[in-house]
Amino acid sequence: MSRIQEALRLGFLTAKKIYRELGAGRNLSDQHLLKVEEFLRELWGCTASLAPDVRHLHSQQIETQAWLYNHWVNVAALVCWYTQRKGMSWEEAYPLLLGAYLHDIGYARIDEGVLNSRHKLDENSMLQIQMHPQIGYNLVKDMKDIDDAVKQAILFHHERFDGEGYPTTLPYGRLPFSLKIVGMADVLEALIHERTYRKAYPLAEALRLFFNMGGHEFDRELMHDFLDTVGRPLALNLPFYRSGQLGRLASGTVVSIEEAHSANWLHPTVSVLINNKREIVPRSEPSVLSDELIFIYSHAESEKILRHIAEKRASMKKSS
Ligand SMILES: [Fe+2]
Repeated sequence: MSRIQEALRLGFLTAKKIYRELGAGRNLSDQHLLKVEEFLRELWGCTASLAPDVRHLHSQQIETQAWLYNHWVNVAALVCWYTQRKGMSWEEAYPLLLGAYLHDIGYARIDEGVLNSRHKLDENSMLQIQMHPQIGYNLVKDMKDIDDAVKQAILFHHERFDGEGYPTTLPYGRLPFSLKIVGMADVLEALIHERTYRKAYPLAEALRLFFNMGGHEFDRELMHDFLDTVGRPLALNLPFYRSGQLGRLASGTVVSIEEAHSANWLHPTVSVLINNKREIVPRSEPSVLSDELIFIYSHAESEKILRHIAEKRASMKKSS
């Protein structure tokens, strides 16, 4: 087993141990924290080779709760990768890493039947799930060795840019930067890995969905930075939209992506199909996008819009 695989295995087993013991009514102890620090130090030491391991960890799922233990490990791994690529020191990064690893600790006290449900959750179960940030916070709030930034990551990791998150006790604008990073890693990890009720999204599709969350779940600029730093390298810098796919600008203009540019991925070459007054216009000459792309349609959605445009053009031609 390589060093990175051993580190990830240690993170997995530590998560399992903590999760089981908290679930049995015990408290988080200093011994647990020492083990977590040992794992995070190991992870920090071999982050350079992390990307493929983060991508393939889901194949190690061997038991019902495994997705959860892997989630602790993978979110910490994504944040580890992000902080290293941003040039942070271990001391600066440690509270982020610990927050990333422990952010879902409250799940240890949620009914396992609800947590591992293979069906869409009813309102009651949903309310239970939404208690996990507060439950997790209660587990750590009196521990002196845990930094406030870590406690905040546990309590606020489901707050959203548009205020639609929970527990909504702190507006997104007032959340510390470190916490927003944990929130983004949490969502990206969930998209690229399997859950009990759905399969993992293919990487390009996961990145497209993540991109479309900018301005809703996350601050768009921060999302671009996160995607640029860890999301795209995870996909080996392949563009997550392709020529022929459609996108929408902040003005409402709909464009066809003609050519994606790996280095300048936010500014592909595009042709305008629908202008900002929602009028279908003759396809413009391709040019590099200077405006901001805020939404990328899936292949199926793109094809549907293109069919609609073709039908409209045909009926306009007939009537003229
Ligand atoms: Fe969570």
